Amino acid sequence: MPFPKDFLFGFATAAYQIEGSPASEGRTPSVWDTFTHSPSPSGKRIADSSSGDTATDHYAKHWPSDLALLSSYGANAYRFSVSWSRIVDFSVPRAKGERDGRNEAGIKFYRGVLEELVRRGIKPAITLFHWDSPQALEDRYGGWLDKEIVHDFVHFAKICFEEFGDLVKHWITLNEPWCYSALGYGYGVHAPGRSSDRTRSAVGDSSVEPYIVAHNLILGHAYAVKAYRELFAPAQNGTIGITLDAIAFIPYDDTPESHAAAQRAFDARTGWFADPIYKGHYPASLYTITPPGTLPTFTDAEIEVVRGSSDFFGLNTYTSNLVRDGGSDLFKGKTQTTFIKPDGSELGLFKSHVDWLQAYPDGFRQLLNYLWKVRPSPHRFRPFTYSPSRKTYNKTIYVTENGFPAPKENDLPLAEAIHDSTRVAYFRGYTDAVLKAVEEDGVAVGSYFAWSLLDNFEWADGYLTRFGVTYVDYDTQKRHPKDSAWFLKEWFENNKHKD
Ligand code: NOJ
Repeated sequence: MPFPKDFLFGFATAAYQIEGSPASEGRTPSVWDTFTHSPSPSGKRIADSSSGDTATDHYAKHWPSDLALLSSYGANAYRFSVSWSRIVDFSVPRAKGERDGRNEAGIKFYRGVLEELVRRGIKPAITLFHWDSPQALEDRYGGWLDKEIVHDFVHFAKICFEEFGDLVKHWITLNEPWCYSALGYGYGVHAPGRSSDRTRSAVGDSSVEPYIVAHNLILGHAYAVKAYRELFAPAQNGTIGITLDAIAFIPYDDTPESHAAAQRAFDARTGWFADPIYKGHYPASLYTITPPGTLPTFTDAEIEVVRGSSDFFGLNTYTSNLVRDGGSDLFKGKTQTTFIKPDGSELGLFKSHVDWLQAYPDGFRQLLNYLWKVRPSPHRFRPFTYSPSRKTYNKTIYVTENGFPAPKENDLPLAEAIHDSTRVAYFRGYTDAVLKAVEEDGVAVGSYFAWSLLDNFEWADGYLTRFGVTYVDYDTQKRHPKDSAWFLKEWFENNKHKD
């Protein structure tokens, strides 16, 4: 068997995308509640003007049957996020520096979910922060723009470790901090919707805010890990790390210029977070594509906490891009990177209907190789070495998300939508790629979580884009397994150790 015995095969979700019930049992608003309910200067923030108010009605009603779906799909693991503003009680006004109390009803809800997962023999992996920052902290001091949030995040994390740590052995501090920083503060298309682009946002400065937010996210992650390792891990014996999003940036051709451009593209997205966390400093190229003084500095004491603060490399990945040297904008600042979408016929890939996602399974394999260690591999379409002298991260990779929005699925009648053959083709290619990376290339991989268990609220796309292996009829909230669920079930069964 190529995969280790304790390999996690499962599905992932996130609180705001599935739960609904935004004001139930003491939950207070997150930035996503505020964002979805306030128009942008140019009109709509969310493609279908929707919000997560109902989503898949998971919290109030469907969570037990959703967990039953996991069992019926053969999952031995489930990655989900907990809502900060359900677990911490933000209903009492407080000053910066004070810590908020606990919301017992929210804690009880997640405890119930965890107990049911354990009863089913499904290992939980909890994400602490999947973008739903409490609005109360936004109002109190500006949320992630202020370093104070590091203390509040650690306070929240400690409640989770204390209350759930007997049942949870896999912790993920943050999900895709690049998206939170860049989409929320650079482009302004995600909550809290700050940007220099005044057609989108009345506030924000895209040339500095994404970097401050990213810096504070890195610190929040690192200090939460420190608390876990010092106070909880010795008794609870779990692992903890971060999930970053990464794209297989493939050099357009084999010239040094294209390799350098691909490296910069990687650094501006994944290395921005990964290099401090795994190596103790921002990537050198990030200083060349940002104006002097843009990147905040870590103190020596902070570096000690940040460096080595992830037990594994949590990877969310969906797509591949060809890259060559050129000019383009990074939050309105000049970079020398151009992202060129590969031509499908050239790479044998196929596109989804969302412009950022194109399927290229070998890109996934190359990315896994790159993140593990830079090494040459003869089967590659193009060398994916970037800078060969550079060390990559050398940590077991947990694939925490991978998935595909089948084209036009939202417009299809149910009877057709459940036969999601392009999603099946995507999963066939990507699961095969991870298998080859492990079996033939020797990459250490610890999990494969498909995104997502259910169709759900796809952020700025609202409900128009569906990523689920289960079709959700939003009028009735009925769940209908798609062919991709059965495909993955079979793949899980074929690759799980039997004993
Ligand atoms: C990554 C995010 O973590 C998740 O919330 C989102 O729905 C998927 N990508 C698909 O876009």
